[in-house]
Amino acid sequence: MTTEEKKASPKRPKKAPVIIGVVAAIVVVAGAGMWVWHEQPSFCGAICHVPMDPYLETYEAEPGQAGTDKWGNEVTDAAAMTAAYHRAEADSSCLDCHTPVLSEQVSEGINWVSGNYEVVLNDTYDGVLLERSASPLTEASGAEKDELCLNESCHPMTREELAEKTADRAFNPHVIQHDKLDCTTCHKAHRASVYYCTQCHDEAEDDLPAGWLSMKEAGALPATA
Ligand code: HEC
Ligand code: HEC
Ligand code: HEC
Repeated sequence: MTTEEKKASPKRPKKAPVIIGVVAAIVVVAGAGMWVWHEQPSFCGAICHVPMDPYLETYEAEPGQAGTDKWGNEVTDAAAMTAAYHRAEADSSCLDCHTPVLSEQVSEGINWVSGNYEVVLNDTYDGVLLERSASPLTEASGAEKDELCLNESCHPMTREELAEKTADRAFNPHVIQHDKLDCTTCHKAHRASVYYCTQCHDEAEDDLPAGWLSMKEAGALPATA
């Protein structure tokens, strides 16, 4: 470099803010794109440590038609899988039920990068996770019990009002006669829902909705037996 060129060089640093600006813009745009992608079911399939494909399939199944559950068993009517039903009827995404709370996502992200997590798989079905229930999902979202489903934006009603909705069924599943059950005791997200009351009430067996399983049928599935 000649001395003349060196003298000219003090101009250079002025470019730095431009470069920082461009990089910042790229980060913002990429970040926004990432965020939008993060909202898509395909994100879960691409990023997660365990393939989410079986869950994606249950979610994309068409109510009114036969489908398969997360374990690969046939479901005679996909409407009985709560995730499929909510996608079709309410355009719900994975994150509408699996509520993304920032603090949880940050700690999940850190654990994912550092490998500090344990994946508990189902013994019978390779690569499918052990089943959860509404309770951990509710806790993770910071909501109160029942609020995962019974909330302003999803089902704005009390348990009593919910029981009124199904009062004209031959057997009312929402009447709290015995214990107060988690919604997911019956409404299964990624497999056929199970009519819990059929364990003891034959009337409930006669009132089985399309695609649903009785307790006996559900108990015969290899994964739950
Ligand atoms: C209508 C609400 C809803 C939607 C939509 C939904 N899930 Fe779920 N998901 C649940 C519930 C509830 C459970 C707890 C298990 C159960 O009760 O069936 C669950 C459980 C899971 C589990 C834990 C393993 C298990 O079998 O319990 C995974 C993984 C999962 N969902 C992934 C997904 C992915 C991926 C999507 C989107 C493609 C999705 N879910 C969409 C409600 C939903
Ligand atoms: C004992 C089993 C059981 C439990 C527990 C249960 N449900 Fe249901 N639910 C059913 C059955 C059976 C139906 C009828 C489904 C059908 O016809 O496809 C139903 C239907 C519904 C419907 C549709 C009602 C309508 O307008 O026809 C909603 C909404 C609902 N349940 C929400 C919930 C919520 C929220 C919870 C938890 C607070 C819950 N359920 C707990 C069995 C249950
Ligand atoms: C473990 C067995 C068992 C299960 C599971 C069960 N019940 Fe019952 N239920 C009984 C028995 C026994 C009675 C009669 C004695 C009593 O009233 O406690 C009864 C009585 C009832 C009654 C009073 C009217 C009648 O038919 O005698 C209602 C309503 C009822 N159950 C609803 C339900 C609903 C809804 C579910 C599912 C959420 C359910 N039960 C699940 C055993 C069960």
